Amino acid sequence: CGIVGYVGSDEAGNFLLDGLRRLEYRGYDSAGVAIHCGAEFTITRSVGRIDSLAGALGDVMPSGSLGLGHTRWATHGPASMENAHPHLGGDGEVVLVHNGVIENFQVLKEGLIKKGYTFVSATDSEVIAHLVADELKHAPETNGQPNLRYLAAVRAAVAQLRGTYGLAIAFRDHPNFLIAARFGSPLVIGVGSGEYFVASDASPLVGRTERIVYLADHQLAVLTPDGFSVLHRDQGKVRVDIRPLETDSGEASLEGFDHYMLKEIYEQPESIRNAMRGRLDDENATAVFGGLNLTPQQLRSVERIILTGCGTSWHSALVGEYMIEDLARIPVSVEYASELRYRNPPIDNNTLIFGITQSGETADTLAALKETKRKGHRTLAICNVVGSSIAQAADGGVYLHAGPEIGVASTKAYTSQCCVLAMLSLYFGRLRHVSFESGQRIINELRQLPAAVQQALACDEQVRDVAKKYQDASTVLYLGRQYNFPTALEGALKLKEISYIHAEGYPAAEMKHGPIALVDEHTPSVFIIPRGTTYDKVMANMEEVKARGGPVIALASRDNPEVESIADDVIHVPEVPGFTQPIVNVVPLQLLSYHIALLRGCDVDKPRNLAKSVTVE
Ligand code: G6P
Repeated sequence: CGIVGYVGSDEAGNFLLDGLRRLEYRGYDSAGVAIHCGAEFTITRSVGRIDSLAGALGDVMPSGSLGLGHTRWATHGPASMENAHPHLGGDGEVVLVHNGVIENFQVLKEGLIKKGYTFVSATDSEVIAHLVADELKHAPETNGQPNLRYLAAVRAAVAQLRGTYGLAIAFRDHPNFLIAARFGSPLVIGVGSGEYFVASDASPLVGRTERIVYLADHQLAVLTPDGFSVLHRDQGKVRVDIRPLETDSGEASLEGFDHYMLKEIYEQPESIRNAMRGRLDDENATAVFGGLNLTPQQLRSVERIILTGCGTSWHSALVGEYMIEDLARIPVSVEYASELRYRNPPIDNNTLIFGITQSGETADTLAALKETKRKGHRTLAICNVVGSSIAQAADGGVYLHAGPEIGVASTKAYTSQCCVLAMLSLYFGRLRHVSFESGQRIINELRQLPAAVQQALACDEQVRDVAKKYQDASTVLYLGRQYNFPTALEGALKLKEISYIHAEGYPAAEMKHGPIALVDEHTPSVFIIPRGTTYDKVMANMEEVKARGGPVIALASRDNPEVESIADDVIHVPEVPGFTQPIVNVVPLQLLSYHIALLRGCDVDKPRNLAKSVTVE
């Protein structure tokens, strides 16, 4: 979910609506704004996208210089008008927006119902609004200093919450005053002159201020048009660290493409070039990274690497495992961030943890890094968004420089992550056993990548025809081995995400241990079968599917009559060395899911139920 808030002398509504558009990547089930107009808040909510909120607001934005806004990814209660934020507490004297999950909301709700509070939504967030209103009743008068009374009520309310929250709270009877509170759900304060902003990340603040303050857990901020202060929930004021707003996420536009996803697929030769820019060192036949914040000595002593992330980023972690073990010979384990954070595996001292993330805001990845860091391990981020929560939480890292990725299904960030992992493999390898000559070869192979990806894009027409043929399938299997196994997983995920067709990715040889039972004339299998070590084995798997009447789509190099004779459809991919295959071979699979989704009339850039970045656990 995304939060925005404004207090100052300007019209709040403009910032709120614009800010929510920039936060839509965090969820787009429903949205709402509250603007203090005269003596009351005017609240506008809508189900669906920010565009529908803009429609509900109409041509005349409610006028007022204090306001809150929210875009939701449903956790408790479906996407409905009642469950859309902002929520009111008491008889409307408290209005708030919330990001996070309150685990003890049921107990708190029952207590509040007994006290006579009426709930209109199924959300956990409304509980906080009533809780603050209830605490306000008991908060002592503070002799002409109303701020203190409201602050005391919020402090008392949040002290009762179990779970996570990023909150922006305003009060009907105390305009020009906003409280923000954070635990586990990031919040940023924008420092203007005579105006202050709050947002769940810095993106809405771009163009409004260049000075920001990141709230830490258990901190609250009090904002008025005259200034702001930050306090610890249970202690006094804390020293404020105002930082420059760092961002390279310029505005994105479609530039003639029908969808952001297609544009981002086509941007890959360039985004891969940008990931490598300035990072290949021919003289030493290695890669160079500015932000790892570790000495070569420390890096040489690394005995194990853990790669963690969610969704597509977890798939690039799998690619990284193959690359690092192959090129740098360091043992790697790949962990779902959501599992790692609670699993508490034994981790040796000389272990390096990489959190891989496009947005830098995914709640589970952030928590997994914080948890491992707390135990004393070095954490690094491979991240696209500069200044994001994960970029800040890590000890150092590598930015992707892929530019803003808008389509919910990740494409260019994925290939850039794989590319960075390949460069890291080279770097670690060259600190150990990889020879100068091998280093040079790897660099040359990396340099071929943008052209190879460009060549892979040439299959677009061919892929469109394949998509037409299989658009009505209800299950698709994706099969590949070694470097192409994560690609099978990623191809299947892309199809699921945007075309709502059930798909599974498997190591090709595992097919016979279960998935083969699904094979019939209506269930196509996509084989990723470049020439290489396991080529003959995958050919045999392809025959096995054919023998059971399953349609076969093969991703293979040109001039391969053997594959052509078995597969029903062949998509040609350029022949590249093993470790760069994941970056090239995923491209036709991205296009396949795009065309199938389009033919099925799906919303490619904003598929149902998903969010670009999941900021709750
Ligand atoms: C969401 C998105 C996925 C993405 C995952 C991780 O589920 O829908 O496309 O791969 O989050 O996001 P991150 O920003 O951490 O890479």
